[in-house]
Amino acid sequence: MSMATATHESVQEYYGRVLQHSSQLKTDACCAPESLPQHLKEIVAQLAPEITERFYGCGAPIPLALEGCTVLDLGCGTGRDAFVCARLVGPRGRVIGLDMTRGQLDVARAHERAQAATFGFASPNTHFVHGYLEDLATAGIEDESVDVVVSNCVINLAPDKRRVFEEILRILKPGGELYFSDIFADRRTPTEWRSDQVLLGECLAGALYWEDYRRLMADLGVPDLRVTARRAVKIDNAELADRVGVTRFASVTVRAFKLGSLEDRCEDYGQIATYLGSVPHARHAFMLDDHHEFVTHKPLAVCGNTAAMLSETRLAAHFRISGERSRHYGLFPCGAPAVDHPQAAAGDACC
Ligand SMILES: C[S@@+](CC[C@H](N)C(=O)[O-])C[C@H]1O[C@@H](n2cnc3c(N)ncnc32)[C@H](O)[C@@H]1O
Repeated sequence: MSMATATHESVQEYYGRVLQHSSQLKTDACCAPESLPQHLKEIVAQLAPEITERFYGCGAPIPLALEGCTVLDLGCGTGRDAFVCARLVGPRGRVIGLDMTRGQLDVARAHERAQAATFGFASPNTHFVHGYLEDLATAGIEDESVDVVVSNCVINLAPDKRRVFEEILRILKPGGELYFSDIFADRRTPTEWRSDQVLLGECLAGALYWEDYRRLMADLGVPDLRVTARRAVKIDNAELADRVGVTRFASVTVRAFKLGSLEDRCEDYGQIATYLGSVPHARHAFMLDDHHEFVTHKPLAVCGNTAAMLSETRLAAHFRISGERSRHYGLFPCGAPAVDHPQAAAGDACC
Protein backbone atom coordinates (compact mmCIF):
# COMPACT_ATOMS: atom_id res chain seq x y z
CA MET A 1 0.00 0.00 0.00
CA SER A 2 1.39 3.46 -0.89
CA MET A 3 1.98 6.04 1.83
CA ALA A 4 -0.82 8.22 0.36
CA THR A 5 -3.34 5.36 0.43
CA ALA A 6 -2.35 4.42 3.99
CA THR A 7 -2.86 8.05 5.06
CA HIS A 8 -6.29 8.23 3.41
CA GLU A 9 -7.38 4.95 5.03
CA SER A 10 -6.14 5.97 8.46
CA VAL A 11 -7.99 9.32 8.27
CA GLN A 12 -11.17 7.68 6.94
CA GLU A 13 -11.16 5.26 9.84
CA TYR A 14 -10.56 8.08 12.34
CA TYR A 15 -13.44 10.23 11.08
CA GLY A 16 -15.70 7.38 9.98
CA ARG A 17 -15.37 5.02 12.95
CA VAL A 18 -13.15 6.22 15.83
CA LEU A 19 -14.79 9.63 16.31
CA GLN A 20 -18.58 9.89 16.62
CA HIS A 21 -18.85 13.32 18.28
CA SER A 22 -16.83 16.56 18.36
CA SER A 23 -16.27 16.13 22.12
CA GLN A 24 -14.09 13.08 21.44
CA LEU A 25 -11.31 15.19 19.89
CA LYS A 26 -8.18 15.31 22.04
CA THR A 27 -7.15 18.95 21.46
CA ASP A 28 -8.98 22.27 21.37
CA ALA A 29 -8.20 22.62 17.68
CA CYS A 30 -11.94 22.32 17.12
CA CYS A 31 -13.53 25.76 17.17
CA ALA A 32 -15.95 26.67 19.96
CA PRO A 33 -19.30 27.74 18.47
CA GLU A 34 -19.40 30.87 20.62
CA SER A 35 -16.47 32.33 18.66
CA LEU A 36 -18.47 32.45 15.42
CA PRO A 37 -19.68 35.80 14.09
CA GLN A 38 -23.31 36.41 15.07
CA HIS A 39 -24.77 35.97 11.57
CA LEU A 40 -23.12 32.53 11.28
CA LYS A 41 -24.22 31.52 14.78
CA GLU A 42 -27.82 32.19 13.74
CA ILE A 43 -27.50 29.91 10.71
CA VAL A 44 -25.75 27.15 12.68
CA ALA A 45 -28.68 27.27 15.12
CA GLN A 46 -30.91 26.26 12.19
CA LEU A 47 -28.92 23.07 11.48
CA ALA A 48 -29.89 19.57 12.60
CA PRO A 49 -27.98 18.50 15.75
CA GLU A 50 -26.62 15.43 13.96
CA ILE A 51 -24.73 17.76 11.60
CA THR A 52 -23.23 20.00 14.27
CA GLU A 53 -22.44 17.22 16.74
CA ARG A 54 -19.91 15.84 14.30
CA PHE A 55 -18.28 19.12 13.39
CA TYR A 56 -14.50 18.77 13.47
CA GLY A 57 -13.41 22.12 12.03
CA CYS A 58 -10.81 24.45 13.53
CA GLY A 59 -12.11 27.82 12.37
CA ALA A 60 -14.86 29.66 10.55
CA PRO A 61 -13.70 29.74 6.93
CA ILE A 62 -16.87 31.32 5.59
CA PRO A 63 -16.18 34.60 3.81
CA LEU A 64 -18.66 37.42 3.27
CA ALA A 65 -20.34 38.30 -0.03
CA LEU A 66 -21.30 34.78 -1.09
CA GLU A 67 -24.74 35.41 -2.55
CA GLY A 68 -25.21 33.69 -5.92
CA CYS A 69 -21.79 32.00 -5.76
CA THR A 70 -20.82 28.42 -6.49
CA VAL A 71 -18.95 27.24 -3.39
CA LEU A 72 -16.96 24.03 -2.98
CA ASP A 73 -16.36 22.77 0.59
CA LEU A 74 -13.34 20.46 0.56
CA GLY A 75 -13.57 17.78 3.26
CA CYS A 76 -17.10 18.85 4.16
CA GLY A 77 -17.61 16.12 6.78
CA THR A 78 -21.25 16.07 7.90
CA GLY A 79 -21.78 19.38 6.13
CA ARG A 80 -21.88 22.09 8.78
CA ASP A 81 -20.02 24.70 6.75
CA ALA A 82 -21.54 23.53 3.47
CA PHE A 83 -25.06 24.10 4.82
CA VAL A 84 -24.08 27.48 6.25
CA CYS A 85 -22.73 28.44 2.82
CA ALA A 86 -25.90 27.07 1.19
CA ARG A 87 -27.93 29.53 3.25
CA LEU A 88 -25.56 32.39 2.35
CA VAL A 89 -25.34 31.73 -1.41
CA GLY A 90 -29.14 31.55 -1.49
CA PRO A 91 -31.30 29.80 -4.07
CA ARG A 92 -29.36 31.37 -6.98
CA GLY A 93 -26.09 29.84 -5.79
CA ARG A 94 -25.00 26.30 -5.11
CA VAL A 95 -22.70 24.42 -2.79
CA ILE A 96 -20.77 21.25 -3.48
CA GLY A 97 -19.53 19.34 -0.43
CA LEU A 98 -16.76 16.83 -1.10
CA ASP A 99 -15.42 14.22 1.31
CA MET A 100 -13.76 10.82 1.12
CA THR A 101 -15.44 9.37 4.26
CA ARG A 102 -18.79 7.86 3.37
CA GLY A 103 -20.14 7.86 6.94
CA GLN A 104 -19.70 11.65 7.08
CA LEU A 105 -21.31 12.21 3.68
CA ASP A 106 -24.28 9.99 4.59
CA VAL A 107 -25.18 12.36 7.43
CA ALA A 108 -24.93 15.43 5.16
CA ARG A 109 -27.04 13.82 2.43
CA ALA A 110 -29.70 12.67 4.88
CA HIS A 111 -30.37 16.30 5.86
CA GLU A 112 -30.26 18.02 2.47
CA ARG A 113 -34.00 18.29 1.83
CA ALA A 114 -34.93 19.24 5.39
CA GLN A 115 -32.23 21.94 5.55
CA ALA A 116 -33.35 23.44 2.24
CA ALA A 117 -36.91 23.57 3.59
CA THR A 118 -35.71 25.19 6.83
CA PHE A 119 -33.94 27.87 4.78
CA GLY A 120 -37.13 28.41 2.75
CA PHE A 121 -35.66 27.13 -0.55
CA ALA A 122 -37.90 25.24 -3.01
CA SER A 123 -35.21 22.58 -3.53
CA PRO A 124 -31.74 21.84 -2.15
CA ASN A 125 -28.91 23.97 -3.52
CA THR A 126 -26.40 21.51 -2.06
CA HIS A 127 -24.76 18.50 -3.67
CA PHE A 128 -22.54 16.12 -1.68
CA VAL A 129 -19.97 14.09 -3.59
CA HIS A 130 -17.55 11.37 -2.63
CA GLY A 131 -14.01 12.20 -3.68
CA TYR A 132 -10.46 13.10 -2.84
CA LEU A 133 -8.95 16.57 -2.51
CA GLU A 134 -6.04 15.44 -4.66
CA ASP A 135 -8.28 14.47 -7.60
CA LEU A 136 -11.24 16.78 -8.02
CA ALA A 137 -11.56 15.91 -11.72
CA THR A 138 -12.68 12.35 -10.93
CA ALA A 139 -15.28 13.88 -8.61
CA GLY A 140 -16.61 15.82 -11.61
CA ILE A 141 -15.38 19.30 -10.66
CA GLU A 142 -14.55 21.10 -13.89
CA ASP A 143 -11.89 23.70 -14.70
CA GLU A 144 -12.75 27.26 -13.66
CA SER A 145 -16.21 26.29 -12.39
CA VAL A 146 -16.10 27.44 -8.74
CA ASP A 147 -16.23 30.97 -7.27
CA VAL A 148 -15.10 30.14 -3.73
CA VAL A 149 -13.39 27.10 -2.22
CA VAL A 150 -13.74 26.73 1.54
CA SER A 151 -12.18 24.07 3.74
CA ASN A 152 -12.12 23.59 7.49
CA CYS A 153 -9.29 21.62 9.06
CA VAL A 154 -8.80 19.22 6.18
CA ILE A 155 -5.82 20.08 3.98
CA ASN A 156 -3.39 19.15 6.78
CA LEU A 157 -4.71 15.59 6.42
CA ALA A 158 -3.87 15.33 2.72
CA PRO A 159 -0.63 13.48 1.96
CA ASP A 160 0.03 15.39 -1.30
CA LYS A 161 -0.59 19.05 -0.51
CA ARG A 162 0.93 20.39 -3.72
CA ARG A 163 -1.55 18.34 -5.71
CA VAL A 164 -4.43 19.66 -3.56
CA PHE A 165 -3.53 23.31 -4.18
CA GLU A 166 -2.97 22.64 -7.90
CA GLU A 167 -6.45 21.15 -8.08
CA ILE A 168 -7.97 24.09 -6.20
CA LEU A 169 -6.36 26.55 -8.59
CA ARG A 170 -7.53 24.51 -11.58
CA ILE A 171 -11.20 24.52 -10.59
CA LEU A 172 -11.38 28.14 -9.32
CA LYS A 173 -12.64 30.73 -11.78
CA PRO A 174 -10.28 33.64 -12.51
CA GLY A 175 -10.75 36.03 -9.58
CA GLY A 176 -12.05 33.14 -7.45
CA GLU A 177 -11.03 32.66 -3.85
CA LEU A 178 -9.68 29.93 -1.60
CA TYR A 179 -10.70 30.67 2.01
CA PHE A 180 -9.68 28.00 4.48
CA SER A 181 -8.94 27.34 8.13
CA ASP A 182 -6.29 24.82 9.00
CA ILE A 183 -3.68 23.83 11.53
CA PHE A 184 -0.24 25.30 11.01
CA ALA A 185 2.92 24.27 12.89
CA ASP A 186 5.85 26.55 13.68
CA ARG A 187 8.23 24.06 12.01
CA ARG A 188 8.15 21.07 9.62
CA THR A 189 6.72 18.10 11.50
CA PRO A 190 8.67 14.79 11.52
CA THR A 191 7.60 12.39 8.76
CA GLU A 192 7.22 9.47 11.20
CA TRP A 193 4.35 11.29 12.98
CA ARG A 194 2.20 10.63 9.90
CA SER A 195 1.96 6.90 10.63
CA ASP A 196 0.47 7.67 14.08
CA GLN A 197 -3.31 7.61 13.56
CA VAL A 198 -4.09 9.91 16.49
CA LEU A 199 -1.44 12.54 15.70
CA LEU A 200 -2.55 12.48 12.08
CA GLY A 201 -6.31 12.42 12.75
CA GLU A 202 -6.04 15.22 15.34
CA CYS A 203 -4.60 17.42 12.57
CA LEU A 204 -1.13 17.72 14.13
CA ALA A 205 1.09 15.34 12.14
CA GLY A 206 0.28 16.89 8.77
CA ALA A 207 0.05 20.49 9.98
CA LEU A 208 1.27 22.95 7.39
CA TYR A 209 4.47 24.91 8.00
CA TRP A 210 3.72 28.49 6.97
CA GLU A 211 6.95 29.08 5.05
CA ASP A 212 6.47 25.92 2.96
CA TYR A 213 2.85 26.83 2.31
CA ARG A 214 3.88 30.36 1.28
CA ARG A 215 6.60 29.03 -1.05
CA LEU A 216 4.25 26.46 -2.59
CA MET A 217 1.53 29.00 -3.30
CA ALA A 218 4.04 31.44 -4.77
CA ASP A 219 5.30 28.65 -6.99
CA LEU A 220 1.72 27.98 -8.12
CA GLY A 221 1.20 31.67 -8.99
CA VAL A 222 -0.30 33.01 -5.75
CA PRO A 223 2.43 35.18 -4.18
CA ASP A 224 0.24 37.15 -1.73
CA LEU A 225 -1.75 35.33 0.98
CA ARG A 226 -3.89 37.10 3.54
CA VAL A 227 -4.54 35.89 7.10
CA THR A 228 -7.95 36.72 8.55
CA ALA A 229 -7.85 34.94 11.94
CA ARG A 230 -5.52 32.91 14.11
CA ARG A 231 -5.76 31.08 17.39
CA ALA A 232 -3.16 29.09 19.28
CA VAL A 233 -4.04 25.40 19.68
CA LYS A 234 -3.86 24.10 23.25
CA ILE A 235 -2.95 20.45 23.70
CA ASP A 236 -4.24 19.45 27.12
CA ASN A 237 -3.93 15.71 26.52
CA ALA A 238 -0.64 14.88 28.33
CA GLU A 239 0.31 11.98 26.09
CA LEU A 240 -0.19 13.99 22.88
CA ALA A 241 1.61 17.01 24.36
CA ASP A 242 4.58 14.80 25.21
CA ARG A 243 4.67 13.39 21.68
CA VAL A 244 4.68 16.79 19.95
CA GLY A 245 7.22 18.30 22.38
CA VAL A 246 8.11 21.93 21.67
CA THR A 247 6.26 22.23 18.36
CA ARG A 248 3.60 24.94 18.55
CA PHE A 249 0.38 24.80 16.56
CA ALA A 250 -2.14 27.43 15.54
CA SER A 251 -5.42 27.40 13.70
CA VAL A 252 -5.11 29.98 10.94
CA THR A 253 -7.70 31.20 8.46
CA VAL A 254 -6.18 32.25 5.15
CA ARG A 255 -7.61 33.80 1.99
CA ALA A 256 -5.90 33.41 -1.37
CA PHE A 257 -7.25 34.86 -4.61
CA LYS A 258 -6.63 33.39 -8.06
CA LEU A 259 -5.38 36.54 -9.78
CA GLY A 260 -2.71 36.80 -12.45
CA SER A 261 -1.87 40.36 -11.39
CA LEU A 262 -0.51 39.69 -7.87
CA GLU A 263 3.10 40.61 -7.14
CA ASP A 264 5.37 39.09 -4.48
CA ARG A 265 5.67 42.44 -2.67
CA CYS A 266 3.14 45.19 -2.08
CA GLU A 267 3.80 47.90 -4.65
CA ASP A 268 2.49 51.46 -4.59
CA TYR A 269 0.58 52.70 -7.63
CA GLY A 270 -1.19 55.51 -5.76
CA GLN A 271 -4.48 53.60 -5.66
CA ILE A 272 -7.32 54.37 -3.27
CA ALA A 273 -10.10 51.96 -2.24
CA THR A 274 -13.44 53.05 -0.83
CA TYR A 275 -15.82 50.49 0.66
CA LEU A 276 -19.46 51.14 -0.23
CA GLY A 277 -20.94 49.48 2.86
CA SER A 278 -22.94 47.08 0.71
CA VAL A 279 -21.73 43.61 1.83
CA PRO A 280 -24.44 41.88 3.89
CA HIS A 281 -23.45 41.66 7.60
CA ALA A 282 -20.73 44.31 7.11
CA ARG A 283 -22.60 47.59 6.98
CA HIS A 284 -20.07 49.69 8.89
CA ALA A 285 -16.76 48.14 7.87
CA PHE A 286 -15.29 45.31 5.82
CA MET A 287 -12.28 43.31 7.03
CA LEU A 288 -10.26 42.02 4.10
CA ASP A 289 -7.61 40.53 6.40
CA ASP A 290 -5.92 41.09 9.74
CA HIS A 291 -4.43 44.41 8.66
CA HIS A 292 -7.03 45.85 6.27
CA GLU A 293 -10.23 47.19 7.74
CA PHE A 294 -12.21 49.30 5.28
CA VAL A 295 -14.56 51.65 7.08
CA THR A 296 -17.66 52.40 5.01
CA HIS A 297 -17.19 55.40 2.69
CA LYS A 298 -13.69 56.16 4.07
CA PRO A 299 -11.04 56.23 1.28
CA LEU A 300 -7.93 54.16 2.08
CA ALA A 301 -4.61 54.04 0.21
CA VAL A 302 -3.93 50.45 -0.91
CA CYS A 303 -1.14 48.55 -2.65
CA GLY A 304 -1.57 47.10 -6.14
CA ASN A 305 -2.30 43.61 -4.79
CA THR A 306 -5.04 44.79 -2.44
CA ALA A 307 -6.55 46.90 -5.23
CA ALA A 308 -6.63 43.78 -7.44
CA MET A 309 -8.26 41.70 -4.67
CA LEU A 310 -10.99 44.33 -4.38
CA SER A 311 -11.54 45.10 -8.06
CA GLU A 312 -10.93 41.84 -9.97
CA THR A 313 -12.99 39.50 -7.73
CA ARG A 314 -16.58 39.19 -6.53
CA LEU A 315 -15.77 42.02 -4.07
CA ALA A 316 -15.61 44.50 -6.97
CA ALA A 317 -19.33 45.31 -6.64
CA HIS A 318 -18.69 46.62 -3.12
CA PHE A 319 -15.66 48.88 -3.68
CA ARG A 320 -14.74 51.94 -5.67
CA ILE A 321 -11.08 51.90 -6.69
CA SER A 322 -9.39 55.00 -8.02
CA GLY A 323 -6.17 54.85 -10.00
CA GLU A 324 -4.60 52.02 -11.96
CA ARG A 325 -1.09 50.71 -12.42
CA SER A 326 0.16 53.16 -15.03
CA ARG A 327 2.44 55.02 -12.58
CA HIS A 328 4.57 53.39 -9.88
CA TYR A 329 5.61 55.12 -6.65
CA GLY A 330 7.88 52.44 -5.14
CA LEU A 331 7.25 49.82 -2.46
CA PHE A 332 3.99 50.19 -0.54
CA PRO A 333 4.49 50.49 3.25
CA CYS A 334 2.18 47.57 3.99
CA GLY A 335 3.32 46.47 7.45
CA ALA A 336 1.92 42.95 7.48
CA PRO A 337 4.02 40.96 9.94
CA ALA A 338 1.25 38.48 10.68
CA VAL A 339 1.29 37.18 7.13
CA ASP A 340 4.94 36.23 7.37
CA HIS A 341 4.71 34.64 10.81
CA PRO A 342 1.15 33.68 11.64
CA GLN A 343 2.16 31.66 14.70
CA ALA A 344 4.11 34.53 16.20
CA ALA A 345 0.96 36.50 16.83
CA ALA A 346 -1.19 33.51 17.75
CA GLY A 347 -3.64 34.60 20.36
CA ASP A 348 -7.30 34.57 21.13
CA ALA A 349 -8.48 36.00 17.84
CA CYS A 350 -11.91 34.86 16.86
CA CYS A 351 -11.82 31.82 14.61
C1 LIG B 1 -11.16 17.32 10.65
S1 LIG B 1 -12.47 16.72 9.66
C2 LIG B 1 -13.26 18.23 9.22
C3 LIG B 1 -14.61 18.01 8.62
C4 LIG B 1 -15.43 19.26 8.31
N1 LIG B 1 -14.70 20.19 7.48
C5 LIG B 1 -15.88 19.90 9.58
O1 LIG B 1 -15.50 21.06 9.79
O2 LIG B 1 -16.56 19.27 10.37
C6 LIG B 1 -11.62 16.25 8.19
C7 LIG B 1 -12.51 15.75 7.07
O3 LIG B 1 -11.74 15.76 5.87
C8 LIG B 1 -11.94 14.56 5.15
N2 LIG B 1 -10.69 14.33 4.38
C9 LIG B 1 -9.44 14.26 4.88
N3 LIG B 1 -8.55 14.07 3.89
C10 LIG B 1 -9.26 14.04 2.75
C11 LIG B 1 -8.90 13.86 1.37
N4 LIG B 1 -7.63 13.70 1.02
N5 LIG B 1 -9.89 13.88 0.45
C12 LIG B 1 -11.19 14.04 0.81
N6 LIG B 1 -11.59 14.20 2.09
C13 LIG B 1 -10.64 14.21 3.06
C14 LIG B 1 -12.20 13.52 6.22
O4 LIG B 1 -12.92 12.44 5.70
C15 LIG B 1 -12.98 14.31 7.25
O5 LIG B 1 -14.37 14.24 7.02
